[in-house]
Amino acid sequence: MRIISLSLKKRSYDIAVGSGITGYFGRYLNKLNLGSDAYVITNAPVKKRYGQGLEKALKKAGFSVRFKLIPDTEKSKSIERSSLVVRDVAAYDKKRRLFIIAFGGGVVGDLAGFIASIYKRGVPFVQLPTTLLAQVDSAIGGKSAVDLSEGKNLVGAIYQPRLVFSDIKYLSSLGPRELRCGVAEVIKYALIKDPALFTYLEKRLKDIFNLDTAAMEYIVERCSRIKAGIVSRDEKEERGLRTILNFGHTAGHAIEAASGYTKYSHGEAIALGMIVACDISRQMGFIDQPLQGRIKSLIRNAGLPTRIERVPLSGIINAHYRDKKFIGTRNRFVLIKGIGRAKVTENIPLKIIRQALEQLQKRDPS
Ligand SMILES: NC(=O)c1ccc[n+]([C@@H]2O[C@H](COP(=O)([O-])OP(=O)(O)OC[C@H]3O[C@@H](n4cnc5c(N)ncnc54)[C@H](O)[C@@H]3O)[C@@H](O)[C@H]2O)c1
Ligand SMILES: [Zn+2]
Repeated sequence: MRIISLSLKKRSYDIAVGSGITGYFGRYLNKLNLGSDAYVITNAPVKKRYGQGLEKALKKAGFSVRFKLIPDTEKSKSIERSSLVVRDVAAYDKKRRLFIIAFGGGVVGDLAGFIASIYKRGVPFVQLPTTLLAQVDSAIGGKSAVDLSEGKNLVGAIYQPRLVFSDIKYLSSLGPRELRCGVAEVIKYALIKDPALFTYLEKRLKDIFNLDTAAMEYIVERCSRIKAGIVSRDEKEERGLRTILNFGHTAGHAIEAASGYTKYSHGEAIALGMIVACDISRQMGFIDQPLQGRIKSLIRNAGLPTRIERVPLSGIINAHYRDKKFIGTRNRFVLIKGIGRAKVTENIPLKIIRQALEQLQKRDPS
C-alpha cells in the first residue's frame, strides 16, 4: 500500500493506494478516531458486488454499519436526494458518533461529501472510490456538489475527506466506457503536469485496458500525487494553481451541456475538450502540429472520441459563455506550452475558439 499525503495543516489527510487493501480499511479508520457508526452511502450495483467485503472489514474493526443506497444515476446529485438522505442520517445518528463513507464513483462521492458538509455543519467523511475517475480525480480535493436544473455542480462546498482509500481491486469490474472516462482524466494529468506519465500512457495503454495491477497502481498513484500537490498549494482555487485541473473542461463542459448530458459521458466530453484546448494552444503558437497530432493519437488510441457528431456549434458556443469558468465577459482557458506545462490564458479571441471547435467536426484525413 502506498500512502500519499495531502497537506492542509490540521486538515491534512492520507490517500492510500493499493490492490486488495480493503481488509486494512477498518484498522486505518480506527487510527483516525472518526466515530463508531459508519454510514455508508453507495448504490445497488456497488453494494451487491463489494458490500459484503466492506461490511466484514468494518465490523471486524468494531464499527456499526448502515448502508444507504441511492439510485445509480447522475440525478442522485440533487437537493431533493440530499434532503432525503440527510434525514436518514439524522435518524441513524443516535449515539452522535457517526461518520460517513462514500462508497462508489464520483456521483456517490459528490453527494456524500455534500451531505457530510451540511449535516450538523460538518461530520467526518471518508472516500472509498470504486471508479477510475473517482480514484484519480473526484475523491481527492474536497470538491462536493449537487446539480440544479440550472446547471451541474451549482450547489456545494469544499469540504475535505479525512481519508481517501483507493483499492485498485474495485476497478476490475468497470465497464470499458467507465474505464475510458477515467483514462481521459489520466491523460489530462499527463498533459498538465507529467511528461513521464504521458510517455507511459503511450506505451502501456493496452495494459491499462487489460487492468494490469501494476499499471493501474502506477496511474492512480501518479494522478493522486499530482492532485494532492496542487490541492495542498491552492485548495480554494485562489492562487490560479488549481485552475489547471480544468484543462479540457472549459470546452468539455460546454459540449456536455450542448448535448444535453446524454450523448457524451464526462470523460468523452473532456477528451473532446482537450482536443479543443490543444488546437487553441497550437493556434496561439504554444505547441506545434506534430505534438498536437501525438496527443490526438493517444486520445484516439484510448477509444475516446476525437470528433463530434450532431452537436451544433452554436449550442456549444452559447453553453461556453454560460460556463462558471468565465470571469465577467473575459474567457479563460487552460492551455499547454508542451507536455506537462499548463498555462492559464485569458481573452482568447472568439475566432480562435470557433476554429478549434470547427476542426472537431471535420473528418480526419487518415
Ligand atoms: N468532486 C470533484 O472534484 C469531481 C471531479 C470530477 C468529476 N466529478 C463528478 O463525478 C461524477 C462522475 O463520476 P464517475 O465517472 O465515477 O461516475 P459514476 O459515479 O456515475 O459511476 C459510473 C458507473 O460506474 C458504476 N460503478 C461504480 N463503481 C463500479 C465498480 N467498481 N465496478 C463496476 N461498476 C461500478 C456506477 O454504479 C455507475 O453506473 C460526475 O457527477 C462529476 O460531476 C467530481
Ligand atoms: Zn473531469
